[in-house]
Amino acid sequence: MALIPKKILEEYKNLVAELNQHNHHYYVLDNPSVPDSEYDRQMRKLQEVEVSHPDIVTEDSPTQRVGGMALQSFSQITHGLPMLSLDNAFSDAELQDFERKVKDRLNQTADIEYVCEPKLDGAAVSILYRDGVLVYGATRGDGNIGEDITANVRTIKSVPLKLQGHNIPHLLEVRGEIYLPKVGFDALNEAARAVGGKTFVNPRNAAAGSLRQLDSKVTASRPLEMCAYSVGQYQAESTPTTHQDMLQALCGWGFKLNDYVETVTGVDACADYYQRLAKRRNKLPYDIDGIVYKVNELALQERLGFVAKAPRWAIARKFPAQEEMTQLLGVEFQVGRTGAITPVARLDPVFVGGVTVSNATLHNRDEIQRLGVRIGDVVIIRRAGDVIPQIAKVVLEKRPLDAEVIVFPERCPVCQSSVQRNTGEVVARCSGGLFCGAQIKEAIKHFASRKAMDIDGLGDKLVELMVDKAIIFSVADLYELDESRLVGLERMAEKSVANLVAAIDVSKETTLAKFLYALGIREVGEATAQTLANNFGAIEMIAQSSVEELLEIDDIGPVVARHIANFFRNPDNLSIIEALRNAGVKWPDIDLLSQGAQPLKGQTWVLTGGMQVMSRAEAKDALQALGAKVASSVSAKTSQVVAGPGAGSKLTKAEKLGIAVMDEAELMAFLSAQP
Ligand code: IVH
Repeated sequence: MALIPKKILEEYKNLVAELNQHNHHYYVLDNPSVPDSEYDRQMRKLQEVEVSHPDIVTEDSPTQRVGGMALQSFSQITHGLPMLSLDNAFSDAELQDFERKVKDRLNQTADIEYVCEPKLDGAAVSILYRDGVLVYGATRGDGNIGEDITANVRTIKSVPLKLQGHNIPHLLEVRGEIYLPKVGFDALNEAARAVGGKTFVNPRNAAAGSLRQLDSKVTASRPLEMCAYSVGQYQAESTPTTHQDMLQALCGWGFKLNDYVETVTGVDACADYYQRLAKRRNKLPYDIDGIVYKVNELALQERLGFVAKAPRWAIARKFPAQEEMTQLLGVEFQVGRTGAITPVARLDPVFVGGVTVSNATLHNRDEIQRLGVRIGDVVIIRRAGDVIPQIAKVVLEKRPLDAEVIVFPERCPVCQSSVQRNTGEVVARCSGGLFCGAQIKEAIKHFASRKAMDIDGLGDKLVELMVDKAIIFSVADLYELDESRLVGLERMAEKSVANLVAAIDVSKETTLAKFLYALGIREVGEATAQTLANNFGAIEMIAQSSVEELLEIDDIGPVVARHIANFFRNPDNLSIIEALRNAGVKWPDIDLLSQGAQPLKGQTWVLTGGMQVMSRAEAKDALQALGAKVASSVSAKTSQVVAGPGAGSKLTKAEKLGIAVMDEAELMAFLSAQP
């Protein structure tokens, strides 16, 4: 081994320790301690030292998380203590049953303390540390023998390579769940779809699949996380007396714990926790499939012991399933606002994710091919949260003999124009433009929607009727309505017609951002419309801009810039804008000079909880007009949170991250102080 100067060795050790601390703050505490640029600088420095002194590299160096040589196969690891599973309770009654048995066995009438934990839906892992250094990571396998996935586990940033803090046990086997957050899962499947590759059915399969890669570089590329939830083998000077204390100790040694772990007393409090988490389930950034309740006192756990493969001191209360099987009855092709043709699956209705599902999106032609799905097939439907139900997989073994191949239409099902597919785009589009009834209808619905021109009483059904009956042909016609033709339309009495006409009249007073959004330019959502308005001030300025000029604006990329420029080059669009303005649609132009330096430019604000004086939409408009981005979730990048009554986890997270919080009164004072 080449002799390494003491000074360099010292510097190296410090760098490793510091970078591991930064990692811990970033991946475990969700609270970065230094800007990314500083992290990158230190990481480069570390790499330089390691390149010039290859012998210096220690196992806990953050450079060792990128994955190494691919394995031929996994070897086996016998668990020192078996990895058990959990009994399930599917109702409150079954949970009460569990509690009764616990009390009977302990001969106790007093209420019992339970630790409530979300049941993370990933893959169980056992990670062994000897004197604070990671020795191996293993899958659960059959509970007795698992696979050695050390190389893969080492790539997961929330897994400490070396324990931190005090009282490090001589031997510590940490058990926990490795999971893939929802965004990571969506991105992975999105990427697979883009190349016609195989997608994962759910985040659990994706996590398990990522962990079983022989090439750890593949695992390193997946944004997996690990939460610790218990301890297996353990040898130390002192032993905690409760599960909660054990979790706290794990936290101190550098492990990530789930944010929602709570200790409660009695089974009613357990049921209450279930209700609270059930409400949150869809909003959590990762999948959970239930709640795990664990008796808190370790001495009581020991007295209760095990039965077969599950402990008597814990139980899992399951949530409704998010995947079910059903049959594909047919496929319809819908035409969207921009002509995009979306195949929609008609399903034999099935109860999944808490609702009855009878339609699912099939995305596009490639998706049909990728799934290899046919009409009549039995399919697995997945509905996670508020997400549109998807066909996750075809159950090929159940394919009926007469299953029919799905034929993608060559002509638009609504206007018969040809269907085109641009090179490089997966979406097929109707080429009919505003000749296509479907596109006209969708454009008008979007124009009238709440965040656009906000025309009260102009619902989807009414728009469809008005287009079908040739009462309107474009958004401009709304402002020239022939009222006599409306009376007598389904549910349109004279009073409703008068109300509608009044609402259309009110909508004429708008803002530039809302008007731009209402136009339905491809890829221009609310935020981009606001950015355009803030940067250009007047619609003429946007209409005259070249792609290059548009690209100078932050947040405007090449695709959206091209869509904007194309939109304003189209004479039909310009004449519609002109007709709307002639009909009296107006907005105040933004005086870019008096707007000053946009005091909130670069800041991200989050509104949470109730508001009493302003509406949330008004507050959002006011903040955006000052240049702020208004986001829906709190992260380390959040500049300011406005919290009203009933604010929940967003407020807690903001407090944890030390982000400034103000209430509505303070927001009002702040806004009125702006010029
Ligand atoms: S405790 C003996 N706690 O659920 C105790 N398990 O069958 C065994 N899981 O695949 C596990 N979140 O990986 C426990 N907070 C949690 C959990 C959890 C998810 C998984 C576990 C296993 C299954 C239990």
